[in-house]
Amino acid sequence: MSTAADQAKLVETSKRLAAFQAVKDYLLPEYTRIGIGSGSTVVYVVEAIAALGPAATAKMAFYPTGSQSEELIEAAGLHLQYINKLPAAQQLDVAFDGADEVDDDLNLIKGGGACLWQEKIVATSARQFVCVADFRKLSARLGTSWTKGIPIEVLPMAAPRVLGELERMGSLGPRIRPGLPGKAGAIVTDNGLWIIDAPFAPLQLSRDSASTRSNGTWTVDALADSLIKIPGVAEIGLFYGNNGLEVASGAQKPVAAYF
Ligand code: 5RP
Repeated sequence: MSTAADQAKLVETSKRLAAFQAVKDYLLPEYTRIGIGSGSTVVYVVEAIAALGPAATAKMAFYPTGSQSEELIEAAGLHLQYINKLPAAQQLDVAFDGADEVDDDLNLIKGGGACLWQEKIVATSARQFVCVADFRKLSARLGTSWTKGIPIEVLPMAAPRVLGELERMGSLGPRIRPGLPGKAGAIVTDNGLWIIDAPFAPLQLSRDSASTRSNGTWTVDALADSLIKIPGVAEIGLFYGNNGLEVASGAQKPVAAYF
């Protein structure tokens, strides 16, 4: 009989194998600019990169998505660089990041670690965005396995009005994310903002905006378009779209996902 400890071990093994495979397939020796996401899965991505050895990574610079990945990059002895130093005409060669949920079409929910804004900036600055997750994260519709809600980064003074608007849009119990254990008040992001988690009924896959809210269900793109327009919302944890159309200006959803 499988115990909770066995399951936890399986999840960690899955994350580690996915991370090593993603790095093997997508970190080419000639690459020089690499984005590094946030979360527990990305720890294995950095481990896989460091395992290539100093000679292999000597010419590579690594761009973090917040304080956690900054610390990871430094602790691994990799060269830390910042996205604000990247000229507008240049792109990262690849960015690796985790996700909270991945649908069949590779749209993502991200932000469980409160780093979604910088993660989206780094992902859309890369020619290729690669998602690394474990088997629990894959589902047919976003909002099925990740039921805590879509993470939304907001200006604190706007939080009550954003909560009201989310309820009007059909979110079921949106709430301000509390601080980490032992810390009173709301969680404060690396950008000094708050996170609201907004649960919605599982999202349809279609990009057909006519079906925006049929049966109370939003399409991924229609919901994203509406959320980002709420005054006080800085960024949302839906990474979605059609990379074929959007790749020139940066792709929000990954070119590949590893489980
Ligand atoms: C942080 C994120 C993470 O990528 C996401 O929460 C997954 O984390 P983990 O790898 O720990 O499951 O979006 O903002």
